Order: sequence, then structure tokens, then C-alpha cells
Amino acid sequence: MNIFDHNIKDVAKGNVVAILGAQWGDEGKGKIIDILSKHSNIICRFNGGANAGHTISVNDVKYALHLLPCGVLYNNIINVLGNCMVIHVKTLINEIKKIDNNILDRLYLSDKAHILFDIHQTIDSIQESKKLKEGKQIGTTKKGIGPCYSSKVSRIGIRLGELKNYENFKIKYNELIENLMDLYNITEYNKEEELNQFYNYHKMLKDKIIDVVSFMNKNIDNKKNILIEGANAAMLDIDFGTYPYVTSSSTTIGGIFSGLGIHHKRLNLVIGVVKSYLTRVGCGPFLTELCNATGEYLRKNGHEYGTTTNRPRRCGWLDIPMLLYVKCINCIDVINLTKLDVLSGLKEILLCVSYKNKITGQLLEEGCYPFEENAEETYEPVYEKFEGWEEDISEHKSFNTLPENAKKYVLSIEKYLKTPIAWIGVGPNRKNMITKN
Ligand code: GTP
Repeated sequence: MNIFDHNIKDVAKGNVVAILGAQWGDEGKGKIIDILSKHSNIICRFNGGANAGHTISVNDVKYALHLLPCGVLYNNIINVLGNCMVIHVKTLINEIKKIDNNILDRLYLSDKAHILFDIHQTIDSIQESKKLKEGKQIGTTKKGIGPCYSSKVSRIGIRLGELKNYENFKIKYNELIENLMDLYNITEYNKEEELNQFYNYHKMLKDKIIDVVSFMNKNIDNKKNILIEGANAAMLDIDFGTYPYVTSSSTTIGGIFSGLGIHHKRLNLVIGVVKSYLTRVGCGPFLTELCNATGEYLRKNGHEYGTTTNRPRRCGWLDIPMLLYVKCINCIDVINLTKLDVLSGLKEILLCVSYKNKITGQLLEEGCYPFEENAEETYEPVYEKFEGWEEDISEHKSFNTLPENAKKYVLSIEKYLKTPIAWIGVGPNRKNMITKN
């Protein structure tokens, strides 16, 4: 689809559109999701759990969504939680209650999504503390995501569909908890209390648990406008990310197909969300990291602090090799470049255009990304320098009025990625978005 031939309403119309983060998360996906969601009939999440989330403003009220798709904020949109999600039901119910209980009428959950129990969170803390002692911590959110996916792939997990029949659920629950207590040497766990809670969840949710495969495919056949919200981002993908410093789900395009039971020919448009610089939380390689005053400037200006933990995010220059690698994986059609305003005031901006092997001097092949956990030891970034700009650009409405140096920077990113940039974020609010064409 050539989105430049359409207005935003037409981009949504009869199409299946995916919005995926192209870096290490926190790219600012919420705003473009919010803009497109108004024209959608169905909004879906396909991966992850409450370890992600967007901040969305509706009528000046800010909502932090961690499990629910942002369609819950609009009365006429149906919301779907897909197969490859891991769902901590208490968190889900609390999130629903915070917004409005009536959103349950517009919410469907895949029977094949896995239930994340409190014990998975306990295991997450045990594992992270152990790794910390060994100096090998991943920096997880301790929300139990990894341990829940471990239960899934070990084939001992419990899927939401089991909750439809409470008696059967109880048997599986007891087996799982005993199994995990034994495995992780957990001596105390309040099964009774959790089981009682799950009886209430069974009553609340049993009619909301569906076969998402037929639901999605029927709605696509009926030309509904479908928006797919990625959670986390490509470089945190369990297979393609900077392993082991990744999340435990498929955050890239393949996750959509296994997470919603639709095939690739059903997907009409992939929007990649790219921050104008780079951030990451937690540990792991970060070749363009700025451990200096410029990094601090980006952190302060971009409010780069974790939403739940308030931990400072690591900041650095934009990484073109990373984006070319992600483009290969996700087949990105267009880009939403975010937070360009954060670069205002810098004298010089660097763009990493390649990686050089420190020993051989060879450049890394386009489309590849360093495999090594300690990639810094083998590769160094090759930078192109750009002059910065002083002006505050947040009130700009058109690409043409932006400072010349800002335009040069954006056009270079487009040139290196060979992918059109359709939207540019120039400030935190919804209105601070330029449509570029
Ligand atoms: P994850 O799903 O956890 O990766 O986060 P996200 O990509 O959904 O990030 P989110 O949308 O929550 O955005 C994070 C913050 O960035 C929010 O406070 C936004 O207001 C802010 N933000 C988004 N776009 C821009 C922008 O163009 N400029 C500035 N200054 N802030 C922005």
C-alpha cells in the first residue's frame, strides 16, 4: 500500500495494519497507535504481558495501558488479546476496573494465551537475584514473563481456555504450582487464596475467552479495520534480539502470525516506530551508547526514565545497521520517526551508518547485526556527522518549515533505510506529529 496516496482514515479502511517498535522499546508507539486507533474496528495485542505498555491521552486524561490494547479507551472498538500473550489475570482485571468495567463487553481473550500466576513472578525475582549475585542480571521487570513462557514451552503451563471449566482448571492449577514449588524450592505459597480469586475470574471471563483464529479471519474477510499493536520491540525479540538481554516473546512480525492466527498475506501495512536516537533499559550491548554529557542531555530532554521503575534509560546515537536488520525481519513499509524535538539544542548529531570490525577493519555486511553478547569488543560504530539545530520544533506542523539541519538528518535516515518516513514526532502530545510527504 502506498500510504502517501491516502489520508489516515483510508490507511485503516479495510486493512490490517501493524505497528511495531524497531529498536529496544519505548520508541513512543503510543501516539501513532492512538492516531490510527480512532479509525479501527478491532485492536489486538499479540505478544508479551504486562511488561510493556503505552501511555495514551484521551481528552487530556492520561492512561497507562500494560495489558489492554488502546481500543478500550473508545466505546466502539473491539479489543483482542492474542495467543502468544502471557496474562496475569489480576493485573488485567485491575486495569479494566481503573478504566471502566463495561469495557469487558468489547474485550476478547484467546483461549490459547497462557495464564501468568503469582508464582511466576516469585520465580522471576529468585532468578534475577541469583543472576545479580553472579553479575549476569538481565534487568527484567520481574513481572514473571520469562518464567511463564518457560512453563509454556515446558508444556506444563495453563492456557486461558482452561478457565472455562473451573473444576478442570483446579486440577491443572494444583499440578502446576506443586511442580514449580518443587523445581524452585519454594516452601510457602498461598494456593487457596489464588484459587478463590480464580473462581471469580472464571465467572467474569468465561464468556470472553474465544478461538481467536476464527474470530480474526472472519473479521478480516468482512473487511474490518484491524490494528495490531506491537509490545516491546524488535531488538528485544527472543530470537532476533540481543540475546540473552531480550524479552521472552516474539516481538517481531512472526509473532503476529502465531499470536493471532492470521497468515502473512492478510497483513497490508507494517509501520515501524523509530526513535530519533536510541535508548535501552537494563543490561546488554549498546554500541552507540553515550556515557557522557550528551547522553545525559538526551535522557533529560527525552524524559528517558523507566515508566514503572523510574530507572534512567541508557541513551545513544541512532543505529542504522540495527534498523536495516530490523527492516529485513519486519518488512517495514513506512516509518514513524519519533522524538526529533529531543535533539534540538545539540551542536552536533551523529548517525551510526555502519560497524567496523576492530581487528580486520572490515565493515559489517548490510542487514547483519553483531551476534556477540560483548559486541563492543569486536565492533566500533562508523558515524556520519550532522550539524544540529537550536530551535524548538514542537509547534511545527509541516516538514518544510523544520530547520534545514533537522530536515537533512531526517532525509539521511530515509536514504539509508530506503524506507519512507511518513510521520515525525516533534513533541510529547498527540498534536505534535508532522505528516511528511
Ligand atoms: P513500549 O511499548 O513500552 O516500548 O513504549 P512505547 O513505545 O509505547 O512508548 P510510549 O508511547 O509510552 O511513549 C513514551 C513517552 O514518549 C510518552 O510520554 C510520550 O508522550 C513520549 N513521546 C512520544 N512521542 C514523542 C515525541 O515525538 N517527542 C517527545 N518529546 N515525546 C514523545
